[in-house]
Amino acid sequence: MSLKGKHIVLGITGSIAAYKSATLTRLLIKKGAEVQIVITPAGKEFITPVTLSALSGKPVISEFFASGDGTWHSHVELGLWADLMIVAPATASTIGKMANGIADNMLITTYLSMKAPVFVAPAMDLDMYRHISTQRNIGMLRNDGVHIIDPGEGELASHLEGKGRMEEPEKIVAVVEQFLDSPNDLTKKKILITAGPTYERIDPVRFIGNFSSGKMGFALAEECASRGAEVLLITGPTALSLSHPNIRRVDVESAREMYDAAIKTFPEMDAAILSAAVADYRPAQWTDEKIKRREGEEITITLTPNPDIAASLGKIRKPHQLIIGFALETSNEESNAGRKMEKKNFDFIVLNSLQDKGAGFGYDTNKVTILSRKGEKHSFELKTKKEVAKDIIDTAFTTFENSK
Ligand code: C5P
Repeated sequence: MSLKGKHIVLGITGSIAAYKSATLTRLLIKKGAEVQIVITPAGKEFITPVTLSALSGKPVISEFFASGDGTWHSHVELGLWADLMIVAPATASTIGKMANGIADNMLITTYLSMKAPVFVAPAMDLDMYRHISTQRNIGMLRNDGVHIIDPGEGELASHLEGKGRMEEPEKIVAVVEQFLDSPNDLTKKKILITAGPTYERIDPVRFIGNFSSGKMGFALAEECASRGAEVLLITGPTALSLSHPNIRRVDVESAREMYDAAIKTFPEMDAAILSAAVADYRPAQWTDEKIKRREGEEITITLTPNPDIAASLGKIRKPHQLIIGFALETSNEESNAGRKMEKKNFDFIVLNSLQDKGAGFGYDTNKVTILSRKGEKHSFELKTKKEVAKDIIDTAFTTFENSK
């Protein structure tokens, strides 16, 4: 039901896949949406405005002015009218122009005036898609908060096989519906999330670290942001990227940097989710010269404790602030996790078990048990980290809000 009555600007560009836009228009209309099509001049070479206006029930917009009577097509008004913009198919050229603000046609000016969320479904030949320039532009759009609907693999118009086929219209509609259906129960909540490993320097080229990938914390950040929260993500070194505009990312390297960033920002937060695998110890000294190998000699690195970010936040928290911690235990899992929750003053602790296959560091899946201070226990199956993030937020926030 989520598309019913929604105003959608559908941008169509010059790709063979433009024939699929007719089906996409029909599906959106059937779901009850109002669709305003904006097509680039090249798009019209692939599918006619007559077909599209018949399907959408509205004149198709392509130029800045209507040639017959000189009526101005206002991209500003379209930006205000829309609940959502979808660009499908999006060519390499349009993606590049969107990323760089090259407003030389009606579609790009409409994009630049857009107040609503934007989805882009790329469609092009596999080499064009793989090209460093295209990937850079897609990365820029992601950073700008645009939702990229990745192309599928298969036979392309060039008869080559590979990645570049525009995602099927049914799938595009499903992605958009899922986005619209996600609850907005965290609107205006400010949430601090720590993620990833920390690196503790030994010398200029070496460090002590751990295998944390940051995937769980990033999934939590995306989940909270998609539910309306303003997220501050403080992350140790990771290769991951984010797509939601409501996530502010602060990159840190060591536990002490993470501690400083967390302590400074926590007072203004409604909640903190501490999923980082923070190093408990760091080398007591580090040299600014690379340590040289000395044949046959052992070296000793003395370790000194790092600040415990979680325990420090637990000490300064106010009653209205929710804290969710994580625990990775190798023995007496639940009782150790329970003790940790008390000691660090968490409301909830998410227990990851190292004994479960597919759970923990580096995997895309996780199996968790959530324990609450009130003694409740929720156990979940092995799921994707995205689904686990949803379970954590559903369980913790619902219980916390209901207890107020
Ligand atoms: O004591 P342990 O490291 O097992 O506790 C895990 C929980 O404490 C996690 O939520 C982790 O992010 C947090 N933690 C922290 N600062 C540390 C160590 C752990 O915030 N120095």
